[in-house]
Amino acid sequence: MKRWEGRVALVTGASSGIGAAVAERLFAAGMKVVVTGRREERLAAMVEGRDGLAVAGDLRDEAFIDELFRQTRARHGGVDVLVNAAGLGHDAPLLGGSTAAWREMLEVNVLALCVCTREAVADMRRRGDDGHVVHISSMAGHRVPGGSGVYSATKFAVRSLTEGLRQELRALDSGCRVTAISPGIVATEFHARLLGDAEEAQRHYERSGALAAEDVAESVIHVLAAPPTAEIHDVLMRPTRQTS
Ligand SMILES: NC(=O)c1ccc[n+]([C@@H]2O[C@H](COP(=O)([O-])OP(=O)(O)OC[C@H]3O[C@@H](n4cnc5c(N)ncnc54)[C@H](OP(=O)(O)O)[C@@H]3O)[C@@H](O)[C@H]2O)c1
Repeated sequence: MKRWEGRVALVTGASSGIGAAVAERLFAAGMKVVVTGRREERLAAMVEGRDGLAVAGDLRDEAFIDELFRQTRARHGGVDVLVNAAGLGHDAPLLGGSTAAWREMLEVNVLALCVCTREAVADMRRRGDDGHVVHISSMAGHRVPGGSGVYSATKFAVRSLTEGLRQELRALDSGCRVTAISPGIVATEFHARLLGDAEEAQRHYERSGALAAEDVAESVIHVLAAPPTAEIHDVLMRPTRQTS
C-alpha cells in the first residue's frame, strides 16, 4: 500500500457497514479519505482530526454528486481511488413490488455508481492515470437469491459496468484499474433496512456466520496493493458456512 500513502480515496456509503470499514482501513493505510453518505454526523465523526473530508448528501441527486466532486477537488485536488460502496436492497418482488423501491435500487446501485465512476476516472486520468475503481457488488450479481430479481439485476449490471470500464480503460491505454468485489452475507445495516427488523437481521447473520465488514475491507486493500501491472478483476467471497 506504500504507493497510495498521501493519495486521495473517495468512499461512497461510508456512513455504515462495508463503506465505513473500508474508509477506516484506507485512513489506516495513510490515504486522505473523502467519505459520503446521507448521515452527516457519522461522517463528521469519522474524519474528525484526520486528513479527510465529509460531504453528506443523497446520491440520487446528480447535483449533489457534482458538489461532492467539486468539494473533493477544491480540498484535495481530485480522486485517485474510488470505492463505490453505497447501495441498498428492498424486498420488492417483480410481481407486486413498488416502482419507487425498484427506482431507488437502480438509482443508487447502478446510476450513481456510473456517475461517480465517470467523475472519478476523469480525476484519475489527470492525476497520473494510475487510479483504481472498486465496485462493491454482491454474490447476488452472480446468481439470483429467491425473490431478489430487481436487486440482483442491479448487481448483474455492476458486472457489466466492471467489464465495460475495463475495456474503455484499455482502449485509452490507461494505467487505471477496476475491480468488483462480490460478497455474500455481511453483517452491516443492510438487512435491518431490507427486513425492517434489526433483531431478525441479527439472527440472519448468526445463522449464516456472516462476514464482517472488515473482511471485505481487507479484500479492498488486497486489490489496491496488487502490483500496478496486475488487475484483479473479480473477487467472490462468502461466509464459509453460507450454503447458497
Ligand atoms: N450486507 C450484505 O450482506 C451485502 C452483501 C453483498 C453486497 N452488499 C453491498 O454492499 C454495499 C454496502 O452495503 P452494506 O452492507 O454496507 O449496507 P449498509 O450498512 O446499509 O450501508 C449502505 C450505505 O449506503 C449508503 N446509501 C444508501 N442509499 C444512499 C443514498 N441514496 N445516497 C447516499 N448514500 C446512500 C448508506 O448511507 P446513508 O444511509 O447514510 O445515506 C450507507 O452508508 C451495497 O452496495 C450492498 O448492495 C452487501
